Parts: sequence; C-alpha cells; structure tokens
Amino acid sequence: MPTILRALQADITTLAVDAIVNAANSSLLGGGGVDGAIHRAAGPELLQACRLLGGCRTGDAKLTKGYRLPARYVIHTVGPVWHGGASGEPELLASCYRRSLELAASAGVVSIALPSISTGVYGYPIELAAEIAVSTVRQSLQQPSTVAEVIFCCFSANDLRVYERALARTAA
Ligand code: AR6
Repeated sequence: MPTILRALQADITTLAVDAIVNAANSSLLGGGGVDGAIHRAAGPELLQACRLLGGCRTGDAKLTKGYRLPARYVIHTVGPVWHGGASGEPELLASCYRRSLELAASAGVVSIALPSISTGVYGYPIELAAEIAVSTVRQSLQQPSTVAEVIFCCFSANDLRVYERALARTAA
C-alpha cells in the first residue's frame, strides 16, 4: 500500500496518530516552541522519561511514550541551528527526518506527524527546510516500513502553503 504524505495546519499535540515528532534540544529536558507544548500536554511523566535518555545528538532521535497525549509515542529529534547553511545544516536536518522514521518503523508506527523541525527558534529558512523534510521522508519510505501515513504538521498558514508546494514539487 503506498504511503500517504500530506500537510495540515494544526497543534501537533492534538493529533491522534501513533507517533508525533518533537523538535527538541540536545538536553531533551524541554524548552519553548513545539517542545514546550508537547511537554505541557504529555504531563510530567514525559520529562521523567526524557531524563533517563541521556540527551540526544543533533541529527539523531530518541523514542518515549506519549503519556497524556493522544499519540502513543513521542519521537524526540534535535535539529540543527541555522548558521547560514554551510555548517552541515542540510545533512543534519535530513538526518532528523531519516532517524525519526527509522525509530517509528522499529516501534511499528503506522501514522506519524512531524513538525517543521528547526524552523522556529533554530532559524532554518522554511522553504529550504520543507524541501528537505519532504524529499527525505519520500526517500526513507522507499525502504520497507510500517509507516503508511505521514503528516507534516504546520503551525501557520504560511508554513502550510510552503509544505503544500514542496509536496507538489516532489510528487512522483
Ligand atoms: N504544533 C505544531 N507546530 C508547532 C507548535 C505546535 N504546538 N508550536 C510551535 N510549532 P520550534 P526549533 C512550530 O521553535 O526551531 C525549543 O525551545 C513552529 O511554528 O518549536 O527546532 C527546543 O527546546 C515551527 O514551525 O523548534 C529547542 O531548544 C516549528 O514548530 C528549540 O526550541 C519548530 O519551531 C528547537 O528549535
């Protein structure tokens, strides 16, 4: 069955999918933006679980349960801070999406929602980031995977337009 990729505008903490992805920092101990929203909605057990993970490198991902979220799992990934694009940012951002989907498949996840990693506090330009997000997810799903539905969860109407264009451009 072909995987469905789509973009929608939503608060990721409200989505009833198997897994949501968190744009965390390397401490995994919470922060602002989508990270703060996920920790607030999941409750204090999430922070307790994250404390046991020993942090996470930029470009890597780690899995916890979703606790009070509608999602069963949270996949915490750490995007790169934008320094102009010549410091390995594209490769590190692609690695976030790749590792998140690998972890999802290893947990048997069928539906997953991802925020626009690094494009908030970390300053990655949305047009460039959306292109990498969509093309890396498409590439990753060429491997056998349990994942059948990928939602690019956009917080603003503008981000949604950017992702919809990226999805249309990279469609098979
Ligand atoms: N649902 C979906 N998307 C959201 C939500 C939400 N509830 N809230 C924000 N976004 P950011 P980063 C969007 O800053 O750039 C944290 O402090 C937001 O509009 O959350 O990877 C971490 O602890 C943007 O499009 O993450 C790190 O220190 C996207 O999520 C740092 O920020 C990512 O913005 C990570 O920065």
